[in-house]
Amino acid sequence: MPFTSRELSRETLSDFEALAAKQGSCWCMHYQRPKPIPGGGTTTEHRAINRRDKAKLVREGRSHAILVYEGQTPVGWCQYGPREELPRIDAGRGYRKVGPPAQDARLWRITCFFVDRANRGRGVATFALKTALESIRRQGGGIVEAYPVVSKKMAAVPEWRWFGTPGMFRKEGFRTVAPLGTSGVLMRKTIPSG
Ligand SMILES: CC(C)(COP(=O)(O)OP(=O)(O)OC[C@H]1O[C@@H](n2cnc3c(N)ncnc32)[C@H](O)[C@@H]1OP(=O)(O)O)[C@@H](O)C(=O)NCCC(=O)NCCS
Repeated sequence: MPFTSRELSRETLSDFEALAAKQGSCWCMHYQRPKPIPGGGTTTEHRAINRRDKAKLVREGRSHAILVYEGQTPVGWCQYGPREELPRIDAGRGYRKVGPPAQDARLWRITCFFVDRANRGRGVATFALKTALESIRRQGGGIVEAYPVVSKKMAAVPEWRWFGTPGMFRKEGFRTVAPLGTSGVLMRKTIPSG
């Protein structure tokens, strides 16, 4: 495996920023906000707000992601975190029907993947997922949720695969719990502390 990984932190923020600048305006902030950015605004304005807010959360230790490197070059990431860090999932209509797990366990979420265009199809996202799960285990484990798209039409568009694929999660032992609307599924796996 030619890849290495580092956690998103103050030290790696500039690497994340280099990649996020190629991705668009989200900066992986969507699921970190309970609600949309108020007051409309242009894509350019949203990009600036998201960049600023992401940097603040990283400095405060409230944003988690695995960054994947090939040599010194960041090539992709997987955003993960405890439920409290990714509250937007709770607002989804499909998710509200199912609800969080009944067990009294720490709940983690895997919400976003991004791989630099030139490096797609080489196992970067797969590596990022394995590393994120290992990191969750080291941080005490719990129930981990994923929300991959199952709609074939949507999954054919790379930009719609930011949640990852059902196959990626199945290979890591995730089980499908319920549909999320007509296009996605909720998957879960329990990771023991270790
Ligand atoms: C989805 C994405 C992360 C996959 O990354 P990757 O490193 O290419 O993925 P991997 O090589 O590890 O393969 C992982 C899965 O993606 C699938 N995949 C990879 N390239 C694919 C392609 N061109 N078409 C369809 N599926 C593909 C693989 O088959 C594998 O799925 P499986 O395990 O079910 O077979 C990447 O395509 C991407 O970054 N897309 C843009 C997402 C985005 O815009 N994110 C930002 C939102 S904030």
